[in-house]
Amino acid sequence: MMKIDNYAVFGQPISHSKSPRIHTLFAEQTGQLMDYAAREVSAENFTAATTHFFAEGGKGLNCTVPLKELAWQYADQLTERARLAKAVNTLARQADGSISGDNTDGIGLLNDLTVNHGIELKGVKILILGAGGATRGIVPPLLEQQPSTLIIANRNIGKAQAIAADFAALGKVQTCDYASLIDRQFDLIINATSASLSGDLPPLPAALLKAGGSCYDLAYANQATAFVTWGLTNNAAHSLDGLGMLVEQAAEAFFIWRGVRPHTAPVIGLLNAERELNNTNG
Ligand code: ATR
Repeated sequence: MMKIDNYAVFGQPISHSKSPRIHTLFAEQTGQLMDYAAREVSAENFTAATTHFFAEGGKGLNCTVPLKELAWQYADQLTERARLAKAVNTLARQADGSISGDNTDGIGLLNDLTVNHGIELKGVKILILGAGGATRGIVPPLLEQQPSTLIIANRNIGKAQAIAADFAALGKVQTCDYASLIDRQFDLIINATSASLSGDLPPLPAALLKAGGSCYDLAYANQATAFVTWGLTNNAAHSLDGLGMLVEQAAEAFFIWRGVRPHTAPVIGLLNAERELNNTNG
């Protein structure tokens, strides 16, 4: 009997994770024989659960909230982008038994913005709301696209300044508080705060988004998030949530593990259709 390769996502909470569905669809599409499970793992249990998973022959793990920094510490070796992000969402067991860590969140966002939605980043003004772990993952790939301006706004400005300092060698990152956003305008506003999940929004002035500009919420939900709604009411050309980014970061993880690149468009299309159906029936 052929032995199935095992993968999983660890996090807390995890019951609503779409990752098992996404990876199962990728496996079907590419003809890969593998199993992908979701496991509730707390920060306290992370090291023991991860060591056990790999000792049992597990091939790869995704780590989500609140485990990305612990996964960063756990990995025996890191890719450059994971090292910079100080967070790991993908662990992979190597042939020699060592565990490598990568962060595919930033490339996931980039692919969704530029490939799936055709949003230009070179020479544009980008504002990131929030200065937590999610912001760390997306700043390096955004800087690579050479925007004319990249600003991080946060309540706690010290946290924004610390990120700007960490990435200074990659490019200029400005910082400000929310009050200083008045009279400023941006082509792309990315919400990386955790506010959306509780239906909250940072205080944003009305004319913050340029005509024809776009909004992107890293969070996703079955209903439009507070920030996606803000974008729609402020005439955004695109006001998107993070479902596309979720599928894109998963595709990069799948490629790291299996060496095969799945097509993301049919999976994003299917998840969006299911979400709409859910909303209609709900
Ligand atoms: P993650 O790792 O998901 O980025 P995090 O590290 O807890 O999560 O960061 C959450 C971010 O959301 C922080 O930047 C936080 O702002 P502060 O650093 O000023 O606390 C931001 N945030 C959370 N709730 C918010 C709210 N209601 N309004 C504005 N910012 C909020």
